[in-house]
Amino acid sequence: MCGIIGYIGKENATPLLFEGLRRESYRGYDSSGIVVFEEQATHYVRAVGKLEKLEEKFANNPFSGNIGVGHSRWATHGNVTEANAHPHADCKQNIFVVHNGIIENYAALKEKLEKKGHRFTSQTDTEVLPHLIEHFFKGNLEEAVQKTLQLVKGTYGLAVIAKEDPEKIVAARLSSPLVISVNSGGGFVASDPAALLSHSNKMIFLDDKEIAVVQSDNFRVTDMYNKPKEKEIVELEWTLEEAQKGGYPYFMLKEIIEQSESVKNSMRGRILTEEGRAKLGGLQQVEKQLRDIKRLNIIACGTSYHAGLVGEYMLEEYAGIPTDVDFASEFRYRKPIIDKETAFVFISQSGETADTLAALKEVKEKGGLTLGIVNVVGSSIARETDAGAYNHAGPEIGVASTKAFTSQLTVLSLLCLFLGRQRQMSLVMGQRIAKELARIPELIPQILSGADNIEKLAQKYRDARNFLYVGRKYNYPVALEGALKLKEISYIHAEGYGAGEMKHGPIALIDENFPTIALCPSDSVYEKMVSNIQEIKARNGKVIAIATEGNEDIRKIADDVIYIPKIFEMLTPILTTIPLQLFAYYIGVLKGNDVDKPRNLAKSVTVE
Ligand code: AGP
Repeated sequence: MCGIIGYIGKENATPLLFEGLRRESYRGYDSSGIVVFEEQATHYVRAVGKLEKLEEKFANNPFSGNIGVGHSRWATHGNVTEANAHPHADCKQNIFVVHNGIIENYAALKEKLEKKGHRFTSQTDTEVLPHLIEHFFKGNLEEAVQKTLQLVKGTYGLAVIAKEDPEKIVAARLSSPLVISVNSGGGFVASDPAALLSHSNKMIFLDDKEIAVVQSDNFRVTDMYNKPKEKEIVELEWTLEEAQKGGYPYFMLKEIIEQSESVKNSMRGRILTEEGRAKLGGLQQVEKQLRDIKRLNIIACGTSYHAGLVGEYMLEEYAGIPTDVDFASEFRYRKPIIDKETAFVFISQSGETADTLAALKEVKEKGGLTLGIVNVVGSSIARETDAGAYNHAGPEIGVASTKAFTSQLTVLSLLCLFLGRQRQMSLVMGQRIAKELARIPELIPQILSGADNIEKLAQKYRDARNFLYVGRKYNYPVALEGALKLKEISYIHAEGYGAGEMKHGPIALIDENFPTIALCPSDSVYEKMVSNIQEIKARNGKVIAIATEGNEDIRKIADDVIYIPKIFEMLTPILTTIPLQLFAYYIGVLKGNDVDKPRNLAKSVTVE
């Protein structure tokens, strides 16, 4: 998720571009850049690091102009370098593009363009856009952009300007948001209305496959084939802060709701359904070594550790690889055996968690093979590991990890498919997992549509002082994760437990004031879970069951039921966790807590 801004008008574009990028800085912040046209001059500056680095460069060599575009990057393809920062230009530095999204067929397009003599200067997927537009450019920018986008596969929110056709900004959208606004001050383009609110609350939101031509005093929108499209001018009543949260009251809720999209992005271009395989480009250079490893050791903290525990069940059952999972903070104080038969997998949303990074360095010093499952491109853990797979979940702003967790489970499922098909997993099983995984983005909205019911349960149970979360097999780690969400957001004590462990002590806690959330989808351990629920009910404990839709029997024993759609057992954690995220969120809000910034917590624990 990157920040895009564009301006054309009578004002000086430069300060307006910087202001827009500042408003969008939460969307992407590993590098940034702007380009501004001034009569004969083209001012083009990019910088690695936060926006301040770009502002410093500009201060040393200030410039102005009346049309320009800017970008703050959340890297997906290509490391965090100045050459990879947007805007990206064509060979003649006539055409400049800023882009948010993923061009899936960039490699094939790049190869064709290089054969035609185009010279690339970055590792990014985006750079194919200015060169392709250059290929079609005959003086009219929007015509060249239309022809380009007819060849592109993937997602984009983009803005383009051309020195040789300078009276316009051309913008286009497919799956990544893009908004335009034209007022007395000029014409604006942005990936987020928050960037434009200080100029106007009248916005035009592009829809998929629409292209806009924005000039200083007007705009027009067409489809991909230049057919005009009528667009409504929307008046936003949001505050600036609400706009940054997409209208949601908190980033946490926004990030829970966008999990259909973030899970889709985590698997985009990585599922080979017919072959029943996963394509993980970041593992290519170690594919042979992975074929020979005999064990896996997953190392992480917090929510990422819980994802690792789910991965253990997946990898042992379907890839047939013995797997251990360790807290990074414990692993590094043990005397772990680092051998050539083990691959060490480090899971981290931020890629900066001190304990995880320290454990990684220890494994590397002893010559272990290290893999990363990381969300922040170019982060320390991503750079230190020998290979890995990025989450592509987009920035996670809320301190409580939500979309990163379901993204981690998605990537672990892909890793399981990747390693399993190297080993004993059959084509049929591989195809089945691939097909089931691909269904998930369409199933998540079904769970979210039940949010009102979950909010009512939060109101019903808001005064409980303790909670128990229980699950078995794939959903035991989800019980741990659900308890963590409630703890860190509502400050209510909650324990996650293996349901089979209840009778070995914890059931002594149960009475009418100690409710339990039981994860009991219709899977291989469902009957066992029913027995555990009955044990709890026999002691007057209240039970909220997370069950598979269509299961009416569970209503006879649980006090309340939240349903999830039917899915392949290995993948149920991606769905069962979502009601628990919402439950914690609603109780936290009812308690009056700042659920985005819970007390005592930091988004990335970069100290030991
Ligand atoms: C989860 O909600 C917490 N914010 C925390 O446990 C987090 O998962 C943990 O600190 C690990 O962070 P990382 O994934 O960035 O390494």
